[in-house]
Parts: sequence; C-alpha cells; structure tokens
Amino acid sequence: MHGELDSPTGKAFLRWAGGKTWLARKSDQIFRNLEFECYHEPFVGGGAFFFSLGPLQKACLSDKNEALIEVYQCLKENHAKVIEEMRSLDNTESDYYRIREAKSDCRFERAAHFVFLNQTSFNGLYRVNLKGKYNVPYGHRSKKFLDESTLESAAAALQNCTLKSCDFMDTIDDIGPGDLVFLDPPYTVSHNNNGFIKYNQSLFSLEDQYRLSKYIRIIKDLGASYILTNAAHDKVREIFEMGDNCIELDRANLIGGKRAQRGSIKELLFTNLGVF
Ligand SMILES: C[S@@+](CC[C@H](N)C(=O)[O-])C[C@H]1O[C@@H](n2cnc3c(N)ncnc32)[C@H](O)[C@@H]1O
Repeated sequence: MHGELDSPTGKAFLRWAGGKTWLARKSDQIFRNLEFECYHEPFVGGGAFFFSLGPLQKACLSDKNEALIEVYQCLKENHAKVIEEMRSLDNTESDYYRIREAKSDCRFERAAHFVFLNQTSFNGLYRVNLKGKYNVPYGHRSKKFLDESTLESAAAALQNCTLKSCDFMDTIDDIGPGDLVFLDPPYTVSHNNNGFIKYNQSLFSLEDQYRLSKYIRIIKDLGASYILTNAAHDKVREIFEMGDNCIELDRANLIGGKRAQRGSIKELLFTNLGVF
C-alpha cells in the first residue's frame, strides 16, 4: 500500500484556521518518492492536506474537536443525509442565528448545521466562549454555502478512514512502521516574534509542544515518517530539532531559506522524509 503526494486531487470543504491548502499545493515541490502504509493526521482540522491526497487505502484522522469529528463521521456514513439536511437551510441572518442556537438530537442535522455555520459565518473560525458555545457572528457572505460535489468527494475520501476525537498523544497505538504522520498543531508562539497566541477552546501550551516532540521521537522509533509544520520561531526550532530536515517555507512563495518576502509569513516544516 502506498500514497503519493504528486498532484492535489481533492479539496477541503471547511474554512479552518491554519488550513494547509497552500502547503498541499506545494507538496510536489517539497517531497520526493513518498510512499507509506497508513496515513495519520492527529490535528486534522479542515484536513486540507489529507483531502488533497485523494482517497487513500488506509488513514486515521483525529482531532480534539468532537463536533468536527462528528461531521466527518456523518459524511462517511451517509453524506446524502447531511446534504439533504443542508438543503433545508437558508443563508440569511435570521436562519444563521436560529441554527447557532439550535441543539439538535440528530447527529446528521448537527453535522449539517456545523458545515452551514462554517460556510456562512464571519470568518470561518471555530471559536467558542468559555462555556464551550460556538459564538462566531453571521458573515453576510454571498457565496453558495452548499457545495455538493466537494462534500461527495470528501465522503469518498473518508471511506477508508478511522475517525476519532482525542488528544494527539492517544493516537500513538495506531501508528506502525512505514506509516506517515502529518502534524499540523495549533501554533503556540506567533510567527517571527516572541508573542503567544490564543487558539481554540484551550491554549495549546508550550508544554503541549514539548509533548509533541516526545510523540515524534516515539513514532520515529516505531519506524514511521512524519511531517510537522509549525511557526518559524527560535523556540520551535529548539524544541523540534532532532537531526531531521528542517525547511523554512513561505505561505506565498517557497523560499528554501533565502529570498524572504517583506511582510510574508514563514513557517517551519520538519520531516524525516527525503525532501527536494
Ligand atoms: C492548525 S489546526 C489544523 C488545520 C488543518 N491542517 C487544516 O488544513 O485545516 C490545529 C487543530 O488541532 C486541534 N487540536 C488542538 N489541540 C489538540 C490536541 N491536544 N490534540 C489533538 N488535536 C488538537 C484543533 O482543534 C485544530 O483543529
């Protein structure tokens, strides 16, 4: 069994903070001869990188966000039902706030609501208040919120996936020799400076970044490959420096270390795969 990262074949259907669509587009410039047994993504979010791979023979996707994983489970099980629920919704301010308050007992309806709110909200961020309640305002976006063909392709890509909602550390037992683990954690430190940023319901702390470096050492010992993206920051280099490849990427342009653009956002990519 193997996977190839040559040309992106699918796209994410959610707007997600830190989404890696830009990296998926550059992947064929970065990686060569990529082969793997099972693909793992323990911070899957909107899954831009995963969906760009097209349907794989085996994958494990997870995220701490339970509502998000429920959406993937519902699409995998019965995407037609999610689409049918979405067809009954309207992109109006009153419908948006009605749905934001709704607490459905039906998980397919909840999944439809999640995708609807994500597509019609102000900025697509999944932001919750201290009580864990989604609180993003209406977006006044004219774009169509239901893209049936993208949802159908996503459902097809999810068919061979194991899905679970958990902390990344709880995925260790699923990983074996020859597997590929793509890691896109929330960023603790801001890009190119010393500030700290708040993310999601709870902060992904510096301690979590250290836990992640321990996780990477374990999966390397298991004989797996990894790709980690993180903020371009000296603290991040210090935590994840373990003798593997480290390349600096520009969100707009692949710079390979030198021609940094003014005002551009840099990210670091660590991997034990062969690059370039
Ligand atoms: C930067 S986003 C991933 C974006 C994704 N690569 C994409 O293309 O949309 C980070 C994700 O990590 C999840 N997360 C935060 N803390 C986590 C933890 N301790 N374990 C697992 N997932 C976590 C968040 O819910 C969020 O979806």
